Amino acid sequence: MNNISLLGRNLYDLDDYTPEEIINILEVSKVMKEINSREYKKLPTLKGKTICTLFVENSTRTRMSFELAANRLSADVVTFEATTSSLQKGESLQDTVTTLNAMGIDLYIIRHSSAGSPQIVNKYTGKPVMNAGDGRHAHPTQALLDMYSIYERLGSLNGLKIAIIGDIVNSRVVRSNLIGMKKLGAEVTICGPRTLVPNHMDTVYGCKVTYDLKTALKNADVVMGLRMQLERQTEGLFPSLEEYTKHYVLSKQTIKWAKKDALVMHPGPMNRGVEILPELADSSQSIILDQVSNGVAVRMALLFSILGGRF
Ligand code: CP
Repeated sequence: MNNISLLGRNLYDLDDYTPEEIINILEVSKVMKEINSREYKKLPTLKGKTICTLFVENSTRTRMSFELAANRLSADVVTFEATTSSLQKGESLQDTVTTLNAMGIDLYIIRHSSAGSPQIVNKYTGKPVMNAGDGRHAHPTQALLDMYSIYERLGSLNGLKIAIIGDIVNSRVVRSNLIGMKKLGAEVTICGPRTLVPNHMDTVYGCKVTYDLKTALKNADVVMGLRMQLERQTEGLFPSLEEYTKHYVLSKQTIKWAKKDALVMHPGPMNRGVEILPELADSSQSIILDQVSNGVAVRMALLFSILGGRF
């Protein structure tokens, strides 16, 4: 770890972060993971700080791991329940966050269906904001925990071939990963049906694009499946789930096209039997549950760094 400070920073996406800052987050995550392996897992470092989790879209992993991370660092956590809040009475996001801010919040974590909502929270509160997923735009903490999971297993992302398969057009996870993985020197190929891969991804993100699963998986060190986001499909972009599965499913058979022992990843939640078969998701090649546990360590590292924690 070097002397890089992230004190007071927002985390909207990884384009604002240098490769050195990303590596530093991964190194602090390694320390947090070691703390998580101890019998007594808590650090007193953020005692007196108050963190608000503001999830206006559903979540299991991201919200629970942020709350667990904050608890492990001894911060107070207040959870904004969108479904029982005054948002349901028509209160605006601006009024919601200025109201919360009057209660003395030090940092906000927001998930929202609208891209750009983290910037709105920062505008009206002046406090650091971490993006826990905004629309189809970005999910930087997911990308950081994905990169950490690879870094932990393979030591570096530099020169790795990473294939990301599935519903690219609706995925905020893929966009943040493309930015972060490229900064760390990986060669990323994205793959899915033509209707689920936006034009110009290669020129915008510097990745490779293919519509053929076998081509995408060739020589891959890491293979990541993405969730088919049925709730975001507003038009029939593919004939049927069966048709998608026939051509793009990750299985024990199709993974043979990648390198032997390639890491198998998925950000979750999974549609088992659609984008990935249980035989592969639950196999020894899969690091999907490592991704979940690493999410706590990575989010601890981010809260610690942004709120000025000390060991
Ligand atoms: N990967 C992810 O963001 O999962 P949740 O929607 O459960 O938080």
